[in-house]
Amino acid sequence: MILYRFFRPLVFLFTPEFDHHLVGFFLSLIHRSRLLTKLTCKLFKVSSAQNVEIARINFPNRIGMAAGFDKNGTFYNGIAALGAGFVEVGSVTLTAQPGNAKPRVKRLVEDEAIINHMGLNNVGVEKAQKNLSKVQSIVPIGINIAPNHGLTTKEMIQQMTKSAEALESEGDFLVLNLSCPNQDGVKSLQDAGIISQLLDEIEAKKPIFLKFSSDLPDEKLLESIAKNIERISGVVMSNTTTTRENLKSKNQKFVGGLSGKPLFNKTLKQVKLVRQKFPEDLAVIHSGGIFTVRDVKESLAAGADLVEIYTSLIYQGPTIFKEIQKKTA
Ligand SMILES: Cc1cc2nc3c(=O)[nH]c(=O)nc-3n(C[C@H](O)[C@H](O)[C@H](O)COP(=O)(O)O)c2cc1C
Repeated sequence: MILYRFFRPLVFLFTPEFDHHLVGFFLSLIHRSRLLTKLTCKLFKVSSAQNVEIARINFPNRIGMAAGFDKNGTFYNGIAALGAGFVEVGSVTLTAQPGNAKPRVKRLVEDEAIINHMGLNNVGVEKAQKNLSKVQSIVPIGINIAPNHGLTTKEMIQQMTKSAEALESEGDFLVLNLSCPNQDGVKSLQDAGIISQLLDEIEAKKPIFLKFSSDLPDEKLLESIAKNIERISGVVMSNTTTTRENLKSKNQKFVGGLSGKPLFNKTLKQVKLVRQKFPEDLAVIHSGGIFTVRDVKESLAAGADLVEIYTSLIYQGPTIFKEIQKKTA
């Protein structure tokens, strides 16, 4: 982490998307070579000493990679070799889509945050399925699926059902992304009744998780879970926010979903709320602003079973999984 702090100003001279592609390139080299995967695991001293079973899945540790980093399933073992206990691949949509026009990601350095309006750019189910089938994962994989742009509710349900069917066998669990703020219509999927319709159609054998928005009002969140609890294994809380509170950076005016440090208290509150209302067998994956060992401890104490990171990887560097793991053991 100290070394990365030294290099970070250099990394941040480039656009976030350029850096993402560069990092993705190196991680994909590790991913595609068993030897490099093993060597990186050794270098990062990755072990499975912190095994934990959640939703009938055996995780080597509780700290995973959130969706949106490996969108197409091309470098998940590279991330796992850094110490991630699981990786959420996606969001994948039924057909490929380019996403929104660039620039579509900004750093808010003073706030240790990011705003993105990527618009679910990805290679689509068919290509993602091929990518996933090529390389056996070394940690559990969640497949995060979302609908394509510009669809009616009925069409979104039909698409997500097809995507779940096509990708289920490639992962250990499915995450239904109901909360992308950067594509019209997706957030409407958070309605309790619409989730029921979606779950009526999806006949998955693998555990299903629902990913909610950090902006969803508490009563709606509770209603959507309560109505569908029998048919899901867990929830991912939460996706980015479109609100802007107490930020310092001038980039806060950029349109899109805000992630990173400012999201922590908001998502922690959701975790606490859901854990108080629902039984232990509803698995809770906490996503949103997790940066430090203290954050992870607070999150687990609030009732999260697993945590995910994204923005903190960008601000703290590739040793973050290991450093957090070492100190939470
Ligand atoms: C650039 C970027 C792209 C993202 N893409 C997706 C996505 O495709 N699907 C999704 O469910 N979440 C996506 N997310 C949201 C993250 O998975 C995560 O829930 C959110 O960033 C909050 O966590 P963090 O504060 O640790 O970054 C994305 C986030 C970022 C920063």
